[in-house]
Amino acid sequence: MQVIIRETKEAATELAAQVVARQLARKPNTVLGLATGRTMEGLYARLVRMHRDEGLDFSLAVTFNLDEYVGLPPDNPGSYRYYMNHHLFGHVNIDGRNTHLPDGMAADPEAAGAAYDALIKDHGGIDLQILGIGKTGHIGFNEPLSAMFSRTRVKALTPQTVAQNAPLFPRPEDMPRLAVTMGVGTILEADRILGLVTGDSKAEVFAKAVEGPVTSMISATALQLHANCTMVCDAGAADRLTQRDYYEWIFENDPQWADFR
Ligand code: F6R
Repeated sequence: MQVIIRETKEAATELAAQVVARQLARKPNTVLGLATGRTMEGLYARLVRMHRDEGLDFSLAVTFNLDEYVGLPPDNPGSYRYYMNHHLFGHVNIDGRNTHLPDGMAADPEAAGAAYDALIKDHGGIDLQILGIGKTGHIGFNEPLSAMFSRTRVKALTPQTVAQNAPLFPRPEDMPRLAVTMGVGTILEADRILGLVTGDSKAEVFAKAVEGPVTSMISATALQLHANCTMVCDAGAADRLTQRDYYEWIFENDPQWADFR
């Protein structure tokens, strides 16, 4: 894992956007894994501007989102399909047929989850998986005790996650208690992982994710097992890291980041 600390949320978001843009430039038919949530809004806004002003091309890109609420149809403003259309897909030249989210309306969620993992495989796997971290330490909606080898499936959301996300619903009480999410195992199969974590409310869980022991109680610790994972954060989220100088030293000296410094 590499940890890159930028002073502000904007600078962290910019660096993450540059990583995505370079990936798309290098491989136009990239398979992207996508996340939703507040942190990602800034990233998608930046990618939309890059498309508009710099011609960032999504025409051959394929996307797989991490998760979707159970029981919300795509036109429900609380659904992640709606979020993705609103924040990204509706503003770039991506082919809608190449955008995938787990099916929160599936009659047989188990079969739908297995079909989702199979579809990712059919596309050759995810080249670059973008992630946020929730306050419970979840990645996707892999709440505490999610198995490290878990696959796409239905998970019950914790009270903490309901408290985190219910305010994003027009009527907070309408937030579903279940979601379909890629498993930790599914996520770890991506070729490369790019995490973006901002704000001091994430400092404690982020320090545990990066520096704590690997445990299914904090799914984000599984990222320590991935061979090509970069976590980008702002000073707020970095506040509880104990090895900050070391991470900064690596960033300053690793040639792969020369253009980003
Ligand atoms: C949602 C997802 C979640 C969020 C996490 C952080 O698709 O993958 O793991 O990334 O809950 O959400 P925010 O950015 O709202 O704090």
